[in-house]
Amino acid sequence: MEFQQVFKAAPQVQASAPGRVNLLGEHTDYNEGFVLPTAIPQQTIAAIGWSPDNCHHIYSVELAEKVDISPTATGIPGFASYPYGCIKVLEQAGYAIPPLNLWITSSVPIGAGLSSSAALEIATLRGLRSLLHLPLDDVSLARLGQQAEQQYAGVQCGIMDQMASSLADPKHLLFLDTRHLDYQLLPLPDGAEILVLDSGVPRTLAGSSYNQRRAECEAAARQLGVKALRDVPDIRAIGNLPEPLQRRARHVITENARVLEARQSMSARQFGHLMNASHASLRDDYDVSTPELDSLVKCLQETPQVFGAKLTGAGFGGACVALVAAGEGRAIAQAVLSQYHPSERKGRLLVISSEDRG
Ligand code: GLA
Repeated sequence: MEFQQVFKAAPQVQASAPGRVNLLGEHTDYNEGFVLPTAIPQQTIAAIGWSPDNCHHIYSVELAEKVDISPTATGIPGFASYPYGCIKVLEQAGYAIPPLNLWITSSVPIGAGLSSSAALEIATLRGLRSLLHLPLDDVSLARLGQQAEQQYAGVQCGIMDQMASSLADPKHLLFLDTRHLDYQLLPLPDGAEILVLDSGVPRTLAGSSYNQRRAECEAAARQLGVKALRDVPDIRAIGNLPEPLQRRARHVITENARVLEARQSMSARQFGHLMNASHASLRDDYDVSTPELDSLVKCLQETPQVFGAKLTGAGFGGACVALVAAGEGRAIAQAVLSQYHPSERKGRLLVISSEDRG
């Protein structure tokens, strides 16, 4: 249903924000390290108007569900927790937010590791910024989105997803230093496009071991006497850490080095090698892959015209990203998906960066 049909009034503003796919720098953001995501063509749209009563009303087109939130409500479950979290963090920052009608629609795949939640947060925050003329820049929006996710969805996420949704575009890679929030838009390697395939294994970040990995990294940093694993000067410094902290730290340190290497301009083939190494490290040292992701990544890596492939996002299910020869994404997806049938899982094509919709 359109906004008008749901709320019997027209919206005041409409805003959108993209999902993201990460090419390199997995689980480095909460270690204050470096990441290299890009925006995907799929977007979330938020339309916002004034509520006629003292409640917020939040409608999702895809779920065909409306959630009414009274001023005394606590513990909002499901999709509405994200836009509600955005309203609450703006209030905490000192902005008065009147009761609102919010209408959400999205083509970002949900639960596949493509940051549908960050897209929802940034679309909502952009809409609120324009509706209420809030003096917030794009980096501030990303910080607020991250706070909303941490406080209202219970995920101790880093800032990569919200920064990518707020600042990246599908034609560039976003190099981001997550400690200083310095960033730079870089071109894709020549002759390449990005392909994203879903493994068919759903993942939920809050229910996964994500928060546990974060705690392990913090424990490793404490034992090494550094503020964050980004500050470990030399991989030899981790030799005395107990397992699994030693492997967790090794992943983070080598992954940061891969992002910094990829920041230099390089061929698609060289970039692909770094992606392959990233996957091996996520699988063997960080323990966030699954047999299905490994099998899909292997099919991709063995396919001609694929430069490199890895799981993307947090892992524990979800999607794989590959760097492939420009113009070949669709044919490669077809060939790989026809070979991929682990335990009756069904993979699917999610994104080709050069096409408008996956
Ligand atoms: C999720 C989190 C990000 C990041 C990735 C792993 O997407 O939201 O902050 O930690 O996992 O790279």
